Amino acid sequence: MSDAHGHDEWVVRPASAQDGANCSAEDYAALYSRSLDDTDAFWAEQAERLDWITVPSTIADWSFDPVRIKWFEDGALNICHNAVDRHVEAGRGDALALIFEPDDPAGEVRRITYAELKAEVIRMANTLKKLGVGKGDRVTIYMPMVPEGAYAMLACARIGAIHSVIFGGFSPEAIAGRVEDCRSDWIVTADEGLRGGKRIPLKANVDAALEKVPAKGVLVLRHTGGDITMREGRDHWYHELSDGVSAECPCEEMNAEDPLFILYTSGSTGKPKGVLHTTGGYAVWTETTFRYVFDYRPGEVYWCTADIGWVTGHSYIVYGPLLNGATALMFEGVPNYPDHDRFWAVCEKHKVNIFYTAPTAIRALMREGDSHVTKHDLSSLRLLGSVGEPINPEAWRWYHDTVGKGAIPVIDTWWQTETGGVMITTLPGAHDMKPGSAGKPFFGVCPQLVGNEGEVLEGAAAGNLCITRSWPGQARTVYGDHDRFVQTYFSTYKGKYFTGDGCRRDSDGYYWITGRVDDVINVSGHRMGTAEVESALVLHPKVSEAAVVGYPHDIKGQGIYCYVTLMEGDEPSDDLYSELRQWVRKEIGPIATPDHLHFTPALPKTRSGKIMRRILRKIAEDDYGALGDTSTLADPGVVESLIDGRQNR
Ligand code: PRX
Repeated sequence: MSDAHGHDEWVVRPASAQDGANCSAEDYAALYSRSLDDTDAFWAEQAERLDWITVPSTIADWSFDPVRIKWFEDGALNICHNAVDRHVEAGRGDALALIFEPDDPAGEVRRITYAELKAEVIRMANTLKKLGVGKGDRVTIYMPMVPEGAYAMLACARIGAIHSVIFGGFSPEAIAGRVEDCRSDWIVTADEGLRGGKRIPLKANVDAALEKVPAKGVLVLRHTGGDITMREGRDHWYHELSDGVSAECPCEEMNAEDPLFILYTSGSTGKPKGVLHTTGGYAVWTETTFRYVFDYRPGEVYWCTADIGWVTGHSYIVYGPLLNGATALMFEGVPNYPDHDRFWAVCEKHKVNIFYTAPTAIRALMREGDSHVTKHDLSSLRLLGSVGEPINPEAWRWYHDTVGKGAIPVIDTWWQTETGGVMITTLPGAHDMKPGSAGKPFFGVCPQLVGNEGEVLEGAAAGNLCITRSWPGQARTVYGDHDRFVQTYFSTYKGKYFTGDGCRRDSDGYYWITGRVDDVINVSGHRMGTAEVESALVLHPKVSEAAVVGYPHDIKGQGIYCYVTLMEGDEPSDDLYSELRQWVRKEIGPIATPDHLHFTPALPKTRSGKIMRRILRKIAEDDYGALGDTSTLADPGVVESLIDGRQNR
């Protein structure tokens, strides 16, 4: 059944497979109320599951106007101790921490116990120390999806260094910008990565980045054995430098508010921002959300298909699962290699119980037909999750009916790099599900819908999604630019955290995310600032001006549509079209490759010279009837020629 908004309100009851789930509907109601009414006591209790060097006596201490966010402020702990050593000390050293499934299905699977994980993390930590890395130093991690990527993150956390992981698909230019922004002297990388049978030149990309910015040391993992250049004095093979390091490495005592990591993410303006997360709040948030959202039960195999280069990989491949002593699968490859059944083959091979992926992957696999799924025994699956972008009801149903055989829950988890962990989701065992809706707020989360004038919308309504109270996993700042943090998230609606998302709340209190309302587009679940693509385009000598917008794309959710004005005397051509696409790829990385370029002699602007993006979005969507008010245009003829250009494609 569809409602007036065309939304599918088909309700799915909690499946019987959820018997024994750790949170019933009554539990949720009680815990949610308590998290708001008795916030300090609630979070102090959640925090008790962790080992603290100093148990915090202050819990929440925050204000959104002026902005000041602190949790567990006088507490001290080490998150690596909690994710690794704690389980070994509790006699669970033989339990599996990680299962590594390589890109090549015939390659070697690695099974790493918590005891082995501890030894590996110590080896990495002592190697970093040998390079000179200490507490508070920034370490860039540019790695393939191999266990050593997780070791490097945990090793940094162990010695108090701040990790900044860069997705392996980013270009040398993007690496250089991030290394420079956080003044990171050290880089951990590998010779090459492997994805879908293709080699990714990680070390060569680092070399090219380091032509632009200095670094004291590069630690290189030998992974493919590919040919690379090592620069004397700067580059070190991990297997050589780690040889003979001590098997002991104490965990550094960290204050709860000491930085844990920086993760760069795109915004509506300027360069990517280094979102900073701190130690105590992030640990409690990822531990608690993983525990309840995925309803993890001891011995189960959990698989999140994200990459550690994104926040999903940080919170739900590394920290959340390991803090819970879970077994997490790490997959190096891609969903369609060697064939479109790879995800399901891996689920069958490793008897995966909990599977967490992105709608873009679900849509791409759905298109290939059911046989890829049905030929595998997926009876181990107990829970399916979705993250990264709105999931359309059609994809949700296929995921639920074909992958989950209609018998297991699908949870749609809404959150952001800045939120550290899941904010809105249905909880298995507690909530009915509605395909396309992220569901209800997690404990401690207070969503609010706000109109464009800042008015608070009550009940069933649609508006801009804000969060009115702090939660432990909230980002604390933008590295090196606190004003930008305040400006970006707390200035649009005073006293509230503004998510940048549009959202609808239905009469059952379910939230339906409708997508970004700012100049950020979501391409295959990856956030891309239109300004970033524009800056890359105008760096090309033939480009005079560029305006980039998102448009609906069947598989990617949104595609990248670029309006380009050339320099006087330069003419559009097929060659230039390909050259510009390659150019953006080189400047930012393959994920930013434009889907469509639209050459135009001019862009629609207001008389004060502001580009009218609203109109450009509509034209890219082929929605010419809804251009809205064009009376402020400096030259209305520009719009007509753009529509002509679109229709004559
Ligand atoms: O627009 C929302 C969308 O992804 C944005 C956050 O992107 P990022 O920081 O890269 O983190 C992605 C993984 C947590 C949000 O502002 N988004 C994320 N999850 C969902 C979503 N949109 C709808 N439904 C979701 N479940």
